[in-house]
Amino acid sequence: MAHKGVPEPVQYTTSNGAPYNQPYEAQRIASYANKQIGSNLLLQDFHLIDLLAHFDRERIPERVVHAKGGGAHGFFEATHDVSDICMADFFKQGTKSPVTVRFSTVGGESGSADTARDPRGFSIKIRTTQGNCDWVFNNTPVFFLRDPAKFPHFIHTQKRDPQTHLKDNVQFWDYLSSNPESIHQVMILFGDRGIPRGHAYQHGYSGHTFKFVNDKGEWQYAQIHVRSDQGVKYYTQEEGVRLAGENPDICNQELFEQIEKGQYPSWTVSVQTMTQQQAEEFEHSVGDLTKVWPHHRFPLRPVGKLVLNKNPSNYFAEIEQAAFSPSHLVPGIEPSADPVLQSRLFSYPDTHRHRLGVNYQQIPVNAPLVPVANFQRDGFMTVNGNQGSRPNYMSSIQPLTYKAPSTVSASHEKLVASQIENFLSKFDEDLDTRQPRALWEKVLDEGARERLVKNISGHLGGCQDKEIIKRQLAIFKAVHPDFYAGVSKGVGVTI
Ligand code: HEM
Repeated sequence: MAHKGVPEPVQYTTSNGAPYNQPYEAQRIASYANKQIGSNLLLQDFHLIDLLAHFDRERIPERVVHAKGGGAHGFFEATHDVSDICMADFFKQGTKSPVTVRFSTVGGESGSADTARDPRGFSIKIRTTQGNCDWVFNNTPVFFLRDPAKFPHFIHTQKRDPQTHLKDNVQFWDYLSSNPESIHQVMILFGDRGIPRGHAYQHGYSGHTFKFVNDKGEWQYAQIHVRSDQGVKYYTQEEGVRLAGENPDICNQELFEQIEKGQYPSWTVSVQTMTQQQAEEFEHSVGDLTKVWPHHRFPLRPVGKLVLNKNPSNYFAEIEQAAFSPSHLVPGIEPSADPVLQSRLFSYPDTHRHRLGVNYQQIPVNAPLVPVANFQRDGFMTVNGNQGSRPNYMSSIQPLTYKAPSTVSASHEKLVASQIENFLSKFDEDLDTRQPRALWEKVLDEGARERLVKNISGHLGGCQDKEIIKRQLAIFKAVHPDFYAGVSKGVGVTI
């Protein structure tokens, strides 16, 4: 693995910058009795105490999900004029904005294998002239759920059992078989896209519906697609398992090496849009994250190019400390009412405050390129000058300038007052199995169908509970009788 050395020799120092010459040595009282090995260490030995104390604090909390990842820097270039649908500055044709991208697996810990069967995170921080815009995407266009309150439960079923501290197929399938709206994503996860052959060989999808707003205040629904110019490639189940042992970091390693060699991976960014009228006529809710928008009805419109051309010079500073959030948006892009997206808007900055601290936006990789001017002050690790002498309230003596109130919000939001209710989406066997059935019948070829059946059978077969297997088989049966027949044979259970 290429490793960039430091060009000039640098003086070794203590953390306060004082030159020090004995990195391996500790100060002690010399004594005849224990002149070979002995303690008698000195409290005055700042070098040793500082070294140990800093080491003791090296670890920060890992991400509760998406803990294992790798990434790089590059740029987003707006290649097409989309000003009729979106007023974001970075979408102005010809504009190039610097980006940081992080790819990740979801369920495993920070040291887990890159080739796990898992969705992949595909996060993009675009540093625009209007602040940072984060796209916190996955490599699948749909998700397991559409009710946000299910998310922590669902994630727990993929994490370790509270008693055994082991991963458990029973709890995994117990959740999925009890929450059949997950079927679309289950079929993608156990299909070829479940183990991408490297970060460069996968697409990214917003999954969620956003709103694109133009400078006249008109808006449409939009889904963003980031399609790999390298094509989609995958590892088989057997290759994935083998590589998890032989080289668990293979995807991070390959991305680093590709960029070092000047083979810069790129993606074409496009949008699908839907008018409000079309949304009302669409058979699914635009807030339903388990559904895609068929391309023949909502074609992809190209917007720009994403290119990765620079490796981080320090992984922890530039990738581990990167803090992405779907709520980091810029004028022209707004969240839809999708309840999962709405919950994510809260969850990410909240977890960043826990993982990185209240001033996480001041860490260089997260800091916007444009000046930040507001009334937030102080807090742990304020390192950017704390906005200097400017008053920390809405002062009439030294006022800030405020962006003119947007005509947009007035024209496109309606306040809907209603009674509070506990909402839980219901599984609709007819509607919720249509897209999974189309995936089986029209998208997958025979080989892909066989691999899907084999991959699921291998995993579901490890579930010790027959009732759970039967419940899951019933969902496969509702999708397609052949799908059911294949898995049923694979696990040796019928319903
Ligand atoms: C990471 C919460 C659904 C994509 C995370 C993290 C949390 C979280 C707490 C850790 C962030 C960090 O420590 O930096 C949630 C909640 C969800 C949800 C509460 C639903 C209610 C989704 C969905 C997607 C997604 C639907 C994709 C469409 C990601 C990605 C990361 C992530 C890509 C990794 C970010 C990075 O690279 O640092 N999520 N998530 N999540 N999530 Fe979600």
